[in-house]
Amino acid sequence: MGVGATQELLPIELGESFTPFDPPLKWAGGKRWLIQYLTSLWAPYRNCRLVEPFSGGLSVALNLLPEKALLNDINPHLINFYQWIKKGLFISIPMENDSDLYYAHRNFFNDLIRAGKSKIRQGAELFYYLNRTGYNGLCRFNRHGIYNVPFGQYQKINYRRDFLSYQKLFMKWEFISTDFENLILEPTDFVYADPPYDVKFTQYAEEDFGWNDQIRLIEWLSKHKGPVVISNQATDRIVDLYEKAGFRLHYLLAPRQISCKGDRSKVQEVLGVKNI
Ligand SMILES: C[S@@+](CC[C@H](N)C(=O)[O-])C[C@H]1O[C@@H](n2cnc3c(N)ncnc32)[C@H](O)[C@@H]1O
Repeated sequence: MGVGATQELLPIELGESFTPFDPPLKWAGGKRWLIQYLTSLWAPYRNCRLVEPFSGGLSVALNLLPEKALLNDINPHLINFYQWIKKGLFISIPMENDSDLYYAHRNFFNDLIRAGKSKIRQGAELFYYLNRTGYNGLCRFNRHGIYNVPFGQYQKINYRRDFLSYQKLFMKWEFISTDFENLILEPTDFVYADPPYDVKFTQYAEEDFGWNDQIRLIEWLSKHKGPVVISNQATDRIVDLYEKAGFRLHYLLAPRQISCKGDRSKVQEVLGVKNI
């Protein structure tokens, strides 16, 4: 496989006037570092709808700032939080970097989940607090759907109560929580797919995203007539899969993320591009 920074896909100088929104949550696999490359691919399509089947922490949409977007993630609590921002979210629960409060809020959040009520406003407020205060921004559930991330032990946390600055932007975007394959694409949509990495174990939501899902995804994306970009860890089988599906490949080095031990080793990442 061809390894190394690509010659063809050059990063765009984002310039001083570039003022991205900070993603409101901490999220594993954030793609902020990729924005300089995605911006150059997106620029000719900026009037199209941006579709992100794996929108996660929104680092891409909040940097590309499309006029129209369909942002999906299988994690229902994450999408519920964004939907509440759309309605106008102000957090009123107590928020402190304190383990007793963390576990009390975690219990309350899990009570809401058990009662099937986690979509109420308080569910969104608790989700934000747990995300910021829990271990490493992880979002992990046991097989009964119960949130089980331990306290994070951060030195300092800057909590936000007011999300009104995001509201105007989110009003233009549609948020959905479903498996990516249920999304209905328009032929002119610009799709950026950022699935969980191809590694043995991933636990972003209740279900792992296994090799069959990686295949299912590339088959689904291959049917799309419009522009598609996909990113993943450049494992041999991923490179082979994307190449066979007719994607043009670029290799990039990604910083390793979500590491409590300050692990700075880089990940070899592949960017697959089609119909661009
Ligand atoms: C690598 S993260 C995306 C990160 C995002 N690009 C960002 O910048 O924050 C992958 C996301 O895929 C979601 N996911 C996992 N399986 C999924 C599925 N079958 N359909 C849709 N989303 C899924 C996870 O919940 C997770 O948020």
